[in-house]
Amino acid sequence: ASRKITVLPGDGIGPSIVEATQRVLDRLNCGLEYEYADVGLTALEQGRELIPQEALDAIERNGIVLKGPITTPVGEGFTSVNVTLRKEFQLFANVRPVITIPGTRARYENIDIITVRENTEGMYSGIGQTLSEDGNTAEARSVITRDESLRLVRFAFDMARRLGRQQVTVVHKANILKTTSGLFLNCAREVAEDYPDIEMNEMIVDACCMKLVMNPEQFDVIVTTNLFGDIISDLCAGLVGGLGMAPGANIGEDKALFEAVHGSAPDIAGKNIANPTAMMLAAALMLDHMQLHEPASRMRTAIRNAIFAGDRVTPDLGGHGTTTGFTDAVIERI
Ligand code: NAI
Ligand code: MG
Repeated sequence: ASRKITVLPGDGIGPSIVEATQRVLDRLNCGLEYEYADVGLTALEQGRELIPQEALDAIERNGIVLKGPITTPVGEGFTSVNVTLRKEFQLFANVRPVITIPGTRARYENIDIITVRENTEGMYSGIGQTLSEDGNTAEARSVITRDESLRLVRFAFDMARRLGRQQVTVVHKANILKTTSGLFLNCAREVAEDYPDIEMNEMIVDACCMKLVMNPEQFDVIVTTNLFGDIISDLCAGLVGGLGMAPGANIGEDKALFEAVHGSAPDIAGKNIANPTAMMLAAALMLDHMQLHEPASRMRTAIRNAIFAGDRVTPDLGGHGTTTGFTDAVIERI
C-alpha cells in the first residue's frame, strides 16, 4: 500500500537535504508517494504568498509533512512560516530527540534525551506585542492555558511509557513566573499522578541548563513550555555534535510535521556540504509515526554506520565529505 505525504523542500540548504533524505526513503522501499508544495522564500520569489493556499490544502489532505528549513524574511508583515504552520494545524507537541552517535566528536558518550516542547503558546504565541511610540518600551504577552498544558504533559508521559523511558523532567521557572510557569507546573504534577510507573522530576530552567552541560547522562525525557524548550533543545543538539544531528517532530491530533531543528543555513547553501543527518533522522521519526518501524530502524542504523565509518562525513562533523557523498554512504549501508 502506498501512502502520500506532503514534501516542503524549503529554502537555502533545504532542497538538497530533503532530496538526500528522499533518496534514502526511496531505497527503503516503504511505499511513500510525494506531493510537493513551496512555502517561504521560494514561494515569495515565485510571486506567491509566504504560505500559498495550495500548500495548506496539501497538508490538510495528506496529514503528514516532511519539511525542509524555511527562511523567514526579515521585515514588516512576515510572520514565521513555522509558527504559522504549528498554529494552523494545532501541532501542539514538538518532540526533539538527541542521541550520541559514535564518530561525531561530541563531548559526551551516552546521551539519549527527548525534549517535548509546547509548540503553540507561551512567549512565542506572538500576542500582545507592542512597542511604545517613543520606541523605549516593548511588551509581549505570555499566555499559558490549563487545557494545553495538560494535553502536552500527558503526551510526554504517554510517549515516555510507550518508549519504555524511566523518567520525565518537568522544566519550569515557577519561582519567578508564578502565574504562567506556575500553572504549567501544577498541571504537570496533576498529570504525573496518573503515571506511577514513571518518575517525575521537577527542575528550574537555569539549573537545568547547568546540569545538562555538567552531567547530561542523567536526563531522559524533558517536558517544558515553548521558549524554554526552544533553548534547551538547541543546547541538547550541541551535546551530540551540533544542529546537523537534531531532528524534530511537530505532532498534532491528526497532523504531523517532521523537520530538522536547524534553519536554512544560507552561509553554506549551494555548496553541497550541509549535513543531511538531522533531516534523515526526522524522516525516521516520520516512519515511526506511520508505524513503519522496521524501515525507520534500518535507516537509523545505516546513518550511524555511515557516521562511524567517518570517511564521508560533512565538515560540521570534522570531515571533508559532501551532502551527496554522505548520502551515498548511507544508501550503501541499507
Ligand atoms: P541555521 O540553523 O540555519 O544555521 C546556524 C549555523 O549552523 C550556521 O552556521 C549553519 O551553517 C550551521 N548549520 C545549520 N544546519 C546545518 C547542517 N545541516 N549542516 C551543517 N551546518 C549546519 O540558523 P540561522 O542562521 O540562525 O537561520 C537561518 C534561517 O533559517 C533564518 O531565516 C531562520 O529564520 C531560519 N530558520 C528556520 C527554521 C525552520 O525552518 N525550522 C529553524 C531555525 C531557523
Ligand atoms: Mg529554535
